[in-house]
Amino acid sequence: MLRVTPLTQPRGGRCLPPHTGKRRKTDPGITELAALILEALPNENVGELAATLHDAALPHADLMGADKRFFCAVVDDGIVGYVGLEIYGIEALLRSAVVFRAARGKGYGRMMVEALLEIAFEVGIQRVWLLTETAAGFFGKLGFQHADRAQAPPAIAATEEFAALCPKTANLMVRTL
Ligand SMILES: CC(C)(COP(=O)(O)OP(=O)(O)OC[C@H]1O[C@@H](n2cnc3c(N)ncnc32)[C@H](O)[C@@H]1OP(=O)(O)O)[C@@H](O)C(=O)NCCC(=O)NCCS
Repeated sequence: MLRVTPLTQPRGGRCLPPHTGKRRKTDPGITELAALILEALPNENVGELAATLHDAALPHADLMGADKRFFCAVVDDGIVGYVGLEIYGIEALLRSAVVFRAARGKGYGRMMVEALLEIAFEVGIQRVWLLTETAAGFFGKLGFQHADRAQAPPAIAATEEFAALCPKTANLMVRTL
């Protein structure tokens, strides 16, 4: 189940401490994932995001800016990861997708990205781009397709991630909403 805090209604200060991502048991033999909610990341928590991205070897030198929106992925009142969007009209760059190590492999990454795509669709974004060195298979399962760097729209090609921070060998992927 996905629940999404709208982009226009950040819930400042709501991001809570990390969660280890335990599955919730209902009946014997049935294991169900808890609901994942995306909450706007309060500005005062950007340092924690930067540290998490640093630990995951992801770009973190360009987190400030009017076009950038970051979210905490919250399960059972604890954060399991982060994800962000840079918005340029109908195009957007998905960035900073990270699930805490202890919570990986439990489906939270998929739920987090699906929730972000829901937000992107709701605010009128038509194409979501991303660069990845390590997770092309993960994003492929979420409907992203490989693209040539020359296909990137000018606004996406001009982002710091695209132009400077991600290696030229990173895979460019795109999903149409
Ligand atoms: C990539 C990441 C966000 C995935 O989160 P996660 O919660 O572990 O992923 P999920 O459990 O939702 O996995 C969903 C599916 O993708 C697969 N998958 C997960 N990570 C993958 C990867 N790096 N490469 C290929 N497939 C991957 C899973 O096996 C699963 O497949 P299935 O549906 O067939 O079982 C997480 O591993 C992470 O934070 N990695 C470090 C940061 C990073 O590389 N981020 C990408 C930035 S571009």
